[in-house]
Amino acid sequence: MLSWNEVSKSFGTRAAVDAVTLAARPGEILGLLGPNGAGKTTLMHMAVGLIAPDGGTVSIGDRGSPRSPEARKALGVATQALSLYDDLSGREQLQFLASLYGISGRRASRQIDWALAFVGLADRAGDRTKTYSIGMKRRLNLACALVHDPDVVLLDEPTAGVDPQSRERIVDNVDALRSLGRTVIYTTHYLDEAERLCDRVAIMDGGRLSCVGTIDELLEAHPLAPPSSATSARSGSESSQQPARGGGKLEQVFLCLTGRSLRDE
Ligand SMILES: Nc1ncnc2c1ncn2[C@@H]1O[C@H](COP(=O)(O)OP(=O)(O)O)[C@@H](O)[C@H]1O
Ligand SMILES: [Mg+2]
Repeated sequence: MLSWNEVSKSFGTRAAVDAVTLAARPGEILGLLGPNGAGKTTLMHMAVGLIAPDGGTVSIGDRGSPRSPEARKALGVATQALSLYDDLSGREQLQFLASLYGISGRRASRQIDWALAFVGLADRAGDRTKTYSIGMKRRLNLACALVHDPDVVLLDEPTAGVDPQSRERIVDNVDALRSLGRTVIYTTHYLDEAERLCDRVAIMDGGRLSCVGTIDELLEAHPLAPPSSATSARSGSESSQQPARGGGKLEQVFLCLTGRSLRDE
């Protein structure tokens, strides 16, 4: 559905993304995890055509490069750095984006109403974005990614810095996207979100892809149970081995691969 083939990108002499090959399957939620500076955002930006790779190619299913308008229409992106106009209302923001995608009239109204209701902003749609909380801005940013009804949705840290209520809403929204058959690529610092949402996770470190698979597959490849323990981390009796905070199993795989906790920023 979306694939990166040997994709690389450097800024100056620093390789931000180094020969990454990865593909999101139709209808899956693919998690993209890694410490700050791992190259996740750069990988996302190449996927949506915001920056061109130095080497390698990105393909959006059979539509080809994301730099072609046809492929772009199939993509929705919520960038990590919020891309919102403070002086526009939530509804105006979505109207502007819909017009960029060539959607107008009743179809535009229907999709804008749907997107606003989906993220729980219908009642604040007429207010200027600058009056929104961070959580509301993140939810509007998500609505912006969805308003043109794309097949593939890329969400770059969609819950960063938000209040717990908005976070819960956003995670529920992403879960609902799965039911709607969308393909989602999801970057987060919160491993509990990744465990709850993602069909597979890809772990990046230093611009390279460390591994990709289901959480169970990653645990199998990186057995983490202490030697003294009779049970494996997958056997279900995991309470004594898990960190107190969310993302237990995945946190251990992550630590094993990168030597760091995802939460250590
Ligand atoms: N526009 C840019 N100019 C220079 N360096 C950049 C730019 N964007 C990203 N980088 C660098 O590339 C690396 C990967 O960054 P990024 O893709 O943002 O990682 P992540 O999203 O995983 O935190 C970092 O070292 C970052 O400083
Ligand atoms: Mg990033």
